[in-house]
Amino acid sequence: MKAKLIRSSTQLKLGESPVWLNGVLYYVDILGGKIHSYSGSVKTLYSDKIIPFIVPCNDGLVFGTRDSIRHLSLTRMEVETLFTLQLPENVRFNDGKCDKNGFLFAGTMDMNEKMPSGKLYRFGSDGETVLDSITISNGTIWDPDIETMYYIDSPPRKIRVFDYDMNKSTIISERKSFDVSSFAGVPDGMTIDSQGNLYVAFYGGNGIIKFNRSGEAVKKIFVGTKNVTSCIFGDDDMKTLYITTASDRINRGGHLYKFRNDVPGLPSDEFKFLRK
Ligand code: BGC
Ligand code: CA
Repeated sequence: MKAKLIRSSTQLKLGESPVWLNGVLYYVDILGGKIHSYSGSVKTLYSDKIIPFIVPCNDGLVFGTRDSIRHLSLTRMEVETLFTLQLPENVRFNDGKCDKNGFLFAGTMDMNEKMPSGKLYRFGSDGETVLDSITISNGTIWDPDIETMYYIDSPPRKIRVFDYDMNKSTIISERKSFDVSSFAGVPDGMTIDSQGNLYVAFYGGNGIIKFNRSGEAVKKIFVGTKNVTSCIFGDDDMKTLYITTASDRINRGGHLYKFRNDVPGLPSDEFKFLRK
């Protein structure tokens, strides 16, 4: 099974964080410092030094910078800062996603990708630490049917599985990790379908691996470039998997891909704690 290159997509250094919102695909170029949208053609909506992630909210997008969380109103094209962290010099925000209650789980990483100096935080009306000793925080997603949170720390090649309290938006306990030892590359971003299967992008691994709830790899979607970073379901039937890639370190790749899946995906949840 092979994903198709979206020819009109422009080359990204580190394409990431795809979000499907009202018929439009939004995504970032982390190192290029851009938020783009795609619906037949690409538009650049916003630029900053680095933009590690975006999540939807009821008025546009919430995005990360190296050390802050900001809100971009797409109607007013205005930006306000919601949170700022005092991070060590070599640490920056990386991936971020919201749970069903609208809390933002955003994590940080060691920019040298070696030390476990990153953390996972939860942001609502305020911010708190959820996990520490993380090297590259990535790929958070929830399965509401079985009250589970999945989480990736890329360099240790871990897809961690937690029992999750969906009412309180808190982790109860860690259950296990999925074994990814037989795959090339490191797990990066991921999304989930309506049956609870995970679609995990492998950076350095040329594709997306589909895991069922038991952690068995049931399918590989080949992507025609090495550094595959993340994916999200979109289109009217929610069966098109949009895939981001990176050209960082290899000078090739960095385009969008798409793959028609047999099962629809779950929509991206919104941040629900915007200040009035
Ligand atoms: C990070 C990259 C990193 C990659 C692979 C991405 O989420 O933003 O800096 O190289 O994961 O671990
Ligand atoms: Ca990522």
